[in-house]
Order: sequence, then C-alpha cells, then structure tokens
Amino acid sequence: MDVNGTEIKTVGFQRFGFDCEVPIDVLRSLYLRPHYVTTSSDGLTNGVFSDENAKEEEQHARFIQGNTAYQSKSIYHPDTQSISYTTLSRFPPVKLLPPYGRKRILVTGGAGFVGSHLVDRLMILGHEVTVLDNFFTGSKTTVSHWIGHPNFEMIRHDVVEPFMIECDQIYHLACPASPPHYQFNAVKTIKTSFMGTLNMLGLAKRTKARFLITSTSEIYGDPEVHPQQEDYWGHVNPIGPRACYDEGKRVAETLTYGFHRQDGVDVRVARIFNTYGPRMNPADGRVVSNFIVQALRGEDMTLYGDGTQTRSFQYIHDLIDGLIALMNSDETRPVNIGNGDEFTIGDFAKLVRDIVYKVQREDGVEPQKVNIVHKPMPTDDPQKRRPDTTRAKEVLQWQPCWTVNMGLEEMVRYYKAKMTEGSI
Ligand SMILES: NC(=O)c1ccc[n+]([C@@H]2O[C@H](COP(=O)([O-])OP(=O)(O)OC[C@H]3O[C@@H](n4cnc5c(N)ncnc54)[C@H](O)[C@@H]3O)[C@@H](O)[C@H]2O)c1
Repeated sequence: MDVNGTEIKTVGFQRFGFDCEVPIDVLRSLYLRPHYVTTSSDGLTNGVFSDENAKEEEQHARFIQGNTAYQSKSIYHPDTQSISYTTLSRFPPVKLLPPYGRKRILVTGGAGFVGSHLVDRLMILGHEVTVLDNFFTGSKTTVSHWIGHPNFEMIRHDVVEPFMIECDQIYHLACPASPPHYQFNAVKTIKTSFMGTLNMLGLAKRTKARFLITSTSEIYGDPEVHPQQEDYWGHVNPIGPRACYDEGKRVAETLTYGFHRQDGVDVRVARIFNTYGPRMNPADGRVVSNFIVQALRGEDMTLYGDGTQTRSFQYIHDLIDGLIALMNSDETRPVNIGNGDEFTIGDFAKLVRDIVYKVQREDGVEPQKVNIVHKPMPTDDPQKRRPDTTRAKEVLQWQPCWTVNMGLEEMVRYYKAKMTEGSI
C-alpha cells in the first residue's frame, strides 16, 4: 500500500508528456531471488526452496507474483551448494519505442545500488543503456540479467579517465556512497568526484547530452537549519573524515554549474537523501541494511550514539521516479529528492525489529529476540537530517509514495532470500 493506502501495482509516472510507468512485479522479479530460477520442465525444484520448504516457497511465489520467467537463468543446486548458469536467457519485456522516443543513455556507476535500479527502469522503458563502472563498490551481478540484451552494454571503465561515446542523456552516479567505502581511499574519492565529473561534463559538452549528477544531502553537512532547503549553503567540516565525499560532491556541483554557465551544458542536479532498498550491500555500514541483517541473524542491533539523532529514509523506487522526473523536466536548479518522514534512529531500530519479526512469523519462523546496543557516534555524524521537498513537489510533481513499513518489508524479504541463498 502506498502513503494513500492504495495498492502499488506500478512505479513511475506520466508527466511532461513522458510515460515512465512500469509494473512493480517485473521489477521485483529482477531483484528478488535472482539466482533461484529453474524451469519447471527440467524437473528441479526452485533452488533451495525444496519440498520441506514448500510453505516458504509459496510465500515467495506470492510475493513475486509469478514473474520468475524473467529472472536470470541461474540454477541453484542445494545438494552441492553451487550455482550453474545457462547461456540462454529470457529478458523482461521492454517497450518498443519509436526512434525519436528512444534515448541513448549513459549511466556511470550503473552497477551500484542506485544505478542498477535506474538501469532496470530505463531498460524496461525501452531505451538504449550503457553502463560505465569500475566495479569498486558495484558488481556485474546487479545488472547481469540484462547482459546480452541488444539495448544494453556494460563497460569497465574508471571515470577519472576520459571516455567518449555518443549519447543523449548522462546519469552521472559513479562515486562510492557509504562512509566505509568512500573513506577507504579518500584521495580516490575526491578524484572520482572532481575528475570523474569533469570528464563526464566534458562528454556532455561534446555530445550535447543532458547531464544529471547525483549529489547528496551530505553537502548540507551538519545542518543549522531544519528541514534543509536547496537554498541552504551547508555546514561542512572541510577537513574531517567525511570531507572527501561531502566536499567532493560540493565541488562536483560547482563544476556542473561552471559548465552550465560557461558552455551551456544542459544540467540537472539531484540532491539525494538517505535511500534504501534491495541490492544494498549489507556490509557497507549503512544503517538500514545493518539493522535488518543483524535482526534477521538474531544478533544485537548496533545503534551509534544515543539514538536521538534523526534521519529520513526513502525507498529506492521513489528515488528512481524522482531522478527520471528531474532528467526529463526543465529544472536546472538543484532539487532535493528524499522522504520527509523523520525518525529518531532509536525508533527506527525498533520499527525494523518489528518488521523482521512480522516477516519471520508470516514465513513460519519463530523470531529470535534481539536487543539494541549502543556504540559511540562516529565523527561529524549529523544530528538531524530531513529534506524540504517543496521544490520537487512544485516543479516535478514528485513526492514519495512508499511508506517506510512497506519498503522495509520488501527489503527484509530480499535479505532473507539472499541469506537462504548464502550470498550474504
Ligand atoms: N544511496 C544513497 O542513499 C545516496 C544518497 C545520496 C547520494 N547518493 C549518490 O548516488 C550515487 C550512487 O550511490 P549508491 O548508493 O548506488 O552507491 P554504490 O557505491 O552502490 O554505487 C556507486 C557505483 O559507482 C561505481 N564507481 C565508484 N567509483 C567509480 C569510478 N571512479 N569510476 C567508475 N565507477 C565508479 C561503483 O563501482 C558503484 O557501482 C552516488 O553518486 C552517491 O553519491 C546515494
């Protein structure tokens, strides 16, 4: 159910003379249980969901509503705990667009968490998509279900090096987004933000492609105003451990507007707030995946600080709607894309625990009681963060549809399937 209590059957919108609506079940089939497909004719059971787990299988089948045909053709063998891949694959149906409607779209960082969901959506909509990624935090497996499709291309490339391709739109996402990843090599993070953005803006200038950069709420730092509007200039520590990312994104925005003013590049700037969803790497230290995986494993949930700091969380499908809406609008100013529902981290931990219990009960598993333990707050972690999304509402007619409960439930089911599979 969405925020208005209506059942969600599709995601996307019809706006600006542009239709980006796709069925939610087709999308789900791409990220839920991607390794578990067998054909009924080969006599195998569906992956680990063998007879004794028939009930669980039924639950999952109901959840993904019979779209298993579009999942990757990889077969899980429970006896040897191995996966075999077939070369033949059936792709989800993609729209057939006339040449004037079909765009050549470059997605940098397209093998990452956000990028892979964007790629799914753009592919189903019928565009020609090229993914450029160095696989630092992303993985080929996130988009492997498209490999071989005539509209899809994947290129291993580091955006700090120049790159040339003909394209109509560039979604520039390449940059590690979680603190352990971007702090792992701070200098490389700054290089990626600066040189990578410089190279992609140069490409946009040469090809006259429209350029969208995924900036971040981190550019507001530890904000002194609440909620944060796009006009707020931020409060960032320029030499702290998070600066490589925060200042990197700030300079990337500066570069973007430099190319816009000086060279007339058609730019879009999305300031993304905390986003969660399937395909998030559970080991990358972000709060939602941390909490869910710990609760599912029956481990104590680690909460940094006293739990009074607040955050807002948006579900991945809402973000992708916002990014596509922004790209196809006329808005060149920065736009916040996030969910305004604010939670203290303490309350959020309890909510995650309740949803994990609920899903486990529904699946016939007796949930283990887990505790919430506190650890010291990391340096420069902001106390409050909530987007003011008035601009997105006004100029994009965009607002989040997914409730936190619904998004979390989907996420819990995803991680549960991944754990059963043994891949996390
Ligand atoms: N997820 C969020 O909550 C969030 C919030 C704000 C902003 N963003 C922004 O959205 C974008 C995507 O974030 P994500 O959560 O998917 O992160 P992610 O780490 O999952 O994905 C980033 C992708 O970029 C690739 N990459 C990194 N450095 C690269 C380089 N030098 N050359 C080529 N590819 C490179 C990685 O391999 C990965 O596939 C990032 O720009 C991030 O700053 C995300």
